[in-house]
Amino acid sequence: MSSKDKIALVTGANKGIGFEIAKKLGAAGCTVLVGARNEKLGREACEKLKAEGAKAEYVNLDLLKPETIDKAAETIEKKYGRLDILVNNAGIVERADGAPTKTKVDAVEVTMRTNFIGPLRVTQAMAPLLQKSAEGSIVNVSSALGSCAFNGDRNSPYADTKFIGYSASKAALNMMTVQLAYEFRDTNIKVNSVCPGYCATDINDNQGPLSAEEGAREPARLALLDKSGPTGEYRNTEGSIPW
Ligand SMILES: NC(=O)c1ccc[n+]([C@@H]2O[C@H](COP(=O)([O-])OP(=O)(O)OC[C@H]3O[C@@H](n4cnc5c(N)ncnc54)[C@H](OP(=O)(O)O)[C@@H]3O)[C@@H](O)[C@H]2O)c1
Repeated sequence: MSSKDKIALVTGANKGIGFEIAKKLGAAGCTVLVGARNEKLGREACEKLKAEGAKAEYVNLDLLKPETIDKAAETIEKKYGRLDILVNNAGIVERADGAPTKTKVDAVEVTMRTNFIGPLRVTQAMAPLLQKSAEGSIVNVSSALGSCAFNGDRNSPYADTKFIGYSASKAALNMMTVQLAYEFRDTNIKVNSVCPGYCATDINDNQGPLSAEEGAREPARLALLDKSGPTGEYRNTEGSIPW
């Protein structure tokens, strides 16, 4: 299936890594559905993509508002009848999150609802549309901070970075990847988790050494996988990483 025929939904596509993923999918010829909770920012992102020649359309989508997710699925069903690519990119880090004895539990709760329950709802709503694709791909934008293996390794570069809410939400998202890949094992749908790397975006006050564009490379590559591509993997730009 040519990427020019693909319909792709990216959540949190108004800025950061999500916007850069949308840009790459648009450049590959996909019709990009720009998921964003803020209509003004979502429409502005769409206009930027269109100015670069992409086919882009705004879709209102707030991970904390299930009705927007159901409405988005309904709109996509009516207009396109299917979905080929779903990138679960939108996510948050709460300032009050921290190590297990220090974190604010409310911060953990909203992080789990946004980074795990939200993508689970979106995936459930979009699954019937993805099952109509000849070559479907679900990409869950995770983080190396969600790796139990890295968290348990005291020599890991992430050993001192402890945000129980964020890490648990990404570990849960990874579990969704593993279980979805199993559910879809006999279908045309690939499901993978990806860590974009430490990128300078608003989520970390623009601290990361990589750009959002660099962070978008592997998610966009996985989104565009053909039928022979891998499924049930957890990767960064260098290859597989441990769960
Ligand atoms: N940057 C990094 O170093 C890094 C590293 C590893 C993983 N990641 C992951 O990469 C993904 C993208 O993050 P980013 O770095 O690009 O951060 P970002 O620039 O802060 O973008 C986050 C996006 O998520 C959206 N979002 C947040 N809560 C939402 C909700 N309830 N409903 C819908 N959209 C919501 C934001 O929308 P608003 O503009 O409306 O807030 C924004 O579009 C996240 O899943 C993050 O965990 C990032």
